[in-house]
Order: sequence, then C-alpha cells, then structure tokens
Amino acid sequence: MKILLTGGAGFIGSHTCVELCQAGHEPVIVDNYVNSCSEAVRRVERIVGHAIPCYEADVRNKEALSRIFDENAFDAVIHFAGLKAVGESVAQPLRYYRNNLDSTLTLMEVMQEHGVRRIVFSSSATVYGNQPVVPYREDMPSLGCTNPYGWTKFMIEKILEGQVNADPSWSVVLLRYFNPIGAHESGLIGEDPSGLPNNLMPYIAKVAVGELDHLNVFGNDYPTKDGTGVRDYIHVVDLAKGHVLACGYAAGRTGCEIINLGTGSGCSVLELVHTFERVNGVRIPCVIAPRRPGDIAVNYADPTRARELLGWTAEKTIEDMCRDTYRFQTRNPKGYRG
Ligand code: NAD
Ligand code: UD1
Repeated sequence: MKILLTGGAGFIGSHTCVELCQAGHEPVIVDNYVNSCSEAVRRVERIVGHAIPCYEADVRNKEALSRIFDENAFDAVIHFAGLKAVGESVAQPLRYYRNNLDSTLTLMEVMQEHGVRRIVFSSSATVYGNQPVVPYREDMPSLGCTNPYGWTKFMIEKILEGQVNADPSWSVVLLRYFNPIGAHESGLIGEDPSGLPNNLMPYIAKVAVGELDHLNVFGNDYPTKDGTGVRDYIHVVDLAKGHVLACGYAAGRTGCEIINLGTGSGCSVLELVHTFERVNGVRIPCVIAPRRPGDIAVNYADPTRARELLGWTAEKTIEDMCRDTYRFQTRNPKGYRG
C-alpha cells in the first residue's frame, strides 16, 4: 500500500516508516519539522537502503496537502502529526488546539476530496483519564483529560468517529499508545527531544551520558510495589509494527475501532532505572522529589483487542528498551543535530 505518514519524521513516525518499508509498503512523509528534522528521514533511508518521498509542509496548509494527494494515489494515511508536550499544552492551549485540531480537519477534508477513506490515528492512553482500576480496556468510558494535549486527542477521536457515523464507507483505527520508549536497534533513529525532557526515559538517557546530573523521581509514596509510579512502557519498534498491522486491518473493513497498544505489564520508575543501570553498566543518580501534579499511581493496558484484531503482541523487553535507548543516546549525544 502507498501510505501517507503525517508527522513521519518524528519519533514514532520514523520507526513506523522503517517497518512499513520492510513489510513491502510505500510510505510517503509530510512534516513541517516543528519537532523533528530532515536528518531523521536521511537515517531512515540509510536503514531501508532507498529514498523515501518526503514533503516539507504544514498539514494545516490545505493547498499544499491537496497537491501531495494530487501527486500520489494513497491507499491510507497514518496521522502522527501533532504537538505532544503536556506541560507546554497547559501553557499554550490555543497553539495546541489550533495545531492538532486544524491539522486533523484539513487532512480529513483533503482525504474526502481525494476519495481516501482509511486512517490510522495516534491517540493516547491519556484519553482514559485517571481510571480507578487497571488494566485499561478500550470499552472503559473516558473520565476526562487533565490537560489540553489530552483533550486534543479526545476531540480528534470524536471527529474521526463522527466521520465514520456520517459516512460508513470510512475505515478508522484509533490507536491508544501507552508509554513508547526505546530506539531502532541500528542506533540510527531514536527519540530526540529539544530542551529539557519531560518524560522519564529521555531524562534517564541524558543523565546516563552526563548531560544532566541526576533524575528526580516524582514521588515514592504511591501504593505500588516500591512506591514509585507504574506505567506500561512499550518499545517503539513494537509500536511501529502495530501500525503496519493496523493499516492492513483498516484495509479489510470499514467502521471505527479503538485499539490499545501496550504490553499489558507495569514497570515502576525505579525498576526502569535499575534495569537501565544493569544492562548498560552506568549509574543513574536519583533524588526523590515530590509527586508531579496530575500523575497517577498505576496505568497499564489490556492488550487483548490488539492481539485478537491485529494479531499483534509486544515482543521486546524492558532490557531491550533500555539497551536501544542508550545505544542511540551514546551514538548521537547531541541528537540528530550533532
Ligand atoms: P514527535 O513530535 O516526534 O512527532 C510528531 C511529528 O509531527 C513531528 O515530526 C512534528 O514536526 C510533526 N508535526 C507537528 N505538527 C505538524 C503540522 N501541523 N504539520 C506537519 N507536521 C507536523 O512525536 P511522536 O512521539 O513521534 O508522536 C507521534 C504522535 O503520537 C503524536 O500525535 C503524539 O501526540 C502521539 N503520541 C505520542 C506518545 C509518546 O509518548 N511519544 C504517546 C501517545 C501519543
Ligand atoms: C506523560 C503524559 C501523557 C502522555 C505521555 C507520553 C503527564 C501527566 N502525562 O505520561 O499524557 O501521553 O507522557 O508523552 O504528563 N517521572 C519521574 N521523573 C521524571 C519524569 C517522569 O519520576 O523526570 C515518572 C512519572 O512520575 C511517571 C513515570 O515517570 O510515574 C512516567 O512519566 P512520563 O514518562 O512523563 O509519562 P506519563 O506521565 O505516563
């Protein structure tokens, strides 16, 4: 299939691009590099051994997007493009709603005008809200989001569901990711956050190479095995493979399906830190800090639906995630810009 990846130069998009090529598909990227750079696409090309068609454009620019659809007969779209920093979304809500919602609306209009009706969307476990029970299942009603970023994911899910209700010939897959970490095992592509990382694994990676001097552990008094927060970390390559299967699934049906992509196992902050230290032979100095506002004690996925509908299960271990992250970080100490 010829598949458009909006935001395909980003962390998850670049890994998905590799897996799509290796499964015999033809990905085409559109990205405005607001949170990435063209070097990531060059690296993908090195891994797969051929050029990847790539357009530099803002998905909100309808004229530019229409031209891309005129030039390519797409079978499906994977919509990664979006701003994703939770704290920044609280400080700049209008920018987040404008970027994430407008890009989706423009994309859907252009798809409709070009008769492309299959879309896989990057949603997030954040749309569940703070559920009192684990694991999180797709049929749990949302308890609302805690920040504008989360609400954009919630609203986009509703926009896509609404389109399927209006025109049942559409095929929509809403993938709710848990906590994607890790990097491609080549060490060529990985996560390259600009500025101080907000998320745990990129922070650990920068402490590991001495760029930051310690990790603040946000709370050790949660009701968990060691008092620290528990999450469902998933290797980005497993996640990328889930997208390849989701495209095949979307091609064989119509309607709207929500699917969790997670491992189904929880890992605490300290377990992740200790595994990282052990497999990489480095020390991660930790300081126990107050809880981070908005955090919950535990979340992890029920991945049954992904197994049943896509034939997908996560294969990589926490050890793999730690090893691959460290390899990318040490080979690219300044990220792609180094
Ligand atoms: P990323 O920032 O690395 O990738 C997003 C890409 O979209 C970037 O390359 C950025 O330049 C591009 N982009 C943003 N707005 C654009 C626009 N208007 N036009 C064109 N390109 C635009 O993030 P990621 O981690 O790869 O995440 C991909 C998607 O998955 C995002 O929608 C994100 O919200 C979602 N998601 C990510 C996580 C996570 O932990 N990484 C978890 C759940 C959901
Ligand atoms: C966060 C977002 C979520 C988003 C996801 C992926 C919040 C409240 N949630 O999820 O909406 O979809 O990122 O982008 O921001 N931790 C530390 N020290 C750190 C960083 C994190 O102890 O420096 C802890 C956290 O308290 C948490 C765990 O590590 O227990 C994971 O945190 P993080 O990587 O930020 O992911 P989430 O909070 O699960």
